[in-house]
Amino acid sequence: MAARSEKDTSPIPAHVAVIMDGNGRWAKQKGGLRIFGHQSAITAVRETVEAAAEAGVRFLTLYAFSTENWARPAHEVTALMQLLVHTIRQETPTLLKNSIRLQAIGQTESLPVSCQRELAEAMELTQAGSRMTLVLALSYSGRWDLTQASRRMATEVAAGRLQPDQITEQTMAGFLSTAGIPDPELLIRTSGEQRISNFLLWQLAYTELYITNLLWPDFRREHFQEALQAYQQRERRFGKTSEQLTVS
Ligand code: IPE
Ligand code: IPE
Ligand code: MG
Repeated sequence: MAARSEKDTSPIPAHVAVIMDGNGRWAKQKGGLRIFGHQSAITAVRETVEAAAEAGVRFLTLYAFSTENWARPAHEVTALMQLLVHTIRQETPTLLKNSIRLQAIGQTESLPVSCQRELAEAMELTQAGSRMTLVLALSYSGRWDLTQASRRMATEVAAGRLQPDQITEQTMAGFLSTAGIPDPELLIRTSGEQRISNFLLWQLAYTELYITNLLWPDFRREHFQEALQAYQQRERRFGKTSEQLTVS
């Protein structure tokens, strides 16, 4: 979707995106292996999903595995994929019970077949979920998304179904993997890192950033609520002046 206008500034964001970071450091602090950190992050995921749904958030996007994460040691990648399969299987009944729909963005065809199968099954089972959509970003990167959108748009142009001068921001948004999902109003990143790490590059154009030093496995319901409260204190100006916002 296109950039949101100030009229959309509702107290509860419709879309919250999260960069779940710091599992490895959390494990290291405890003298454990990195995978122990990943395993210990499931509670944070569960509490965040619940807190978001309870707050009335409509879309929650979790950055679970980036394109760049494929470059990690093979044993860590394998363990992460196994954890993904296990977690989806374990959590699907709760998603169903809470009317939460599961969706995935990213180059999911590059995931192990077992992951793709589990994901497809969970997405199908939860497709009627109307309370909130949980979007998992898997093998995702913002540059991949912009590239695949450009490639598909170029194909439409070459076939004569799309005229170059008809391409607008809305057209672009419609070709991205997030088509139909509003841009996030709030981005939460844990572990104190102050970067986007190739997440939703287009979609984050006017997103409010909230960075906490907490490591992801320690993130709980109340921390999500703190992030929402911080968001509510922000003045979203979208390029205008503060005075202009109070006039209309
Ligand atoms: C986030 O934690 C999980 C993934 C990227 C899959 P990290 O594994 O990046 O943990 P740190 O940043 O090394 O502490
Ligand atoms: C970002 O975390 C990706 C996910 C949380 C899935 P990273 O730990 O991979 O990010 P960088 O490499 O430190 O920027
Ligand atoms: Mg990290």
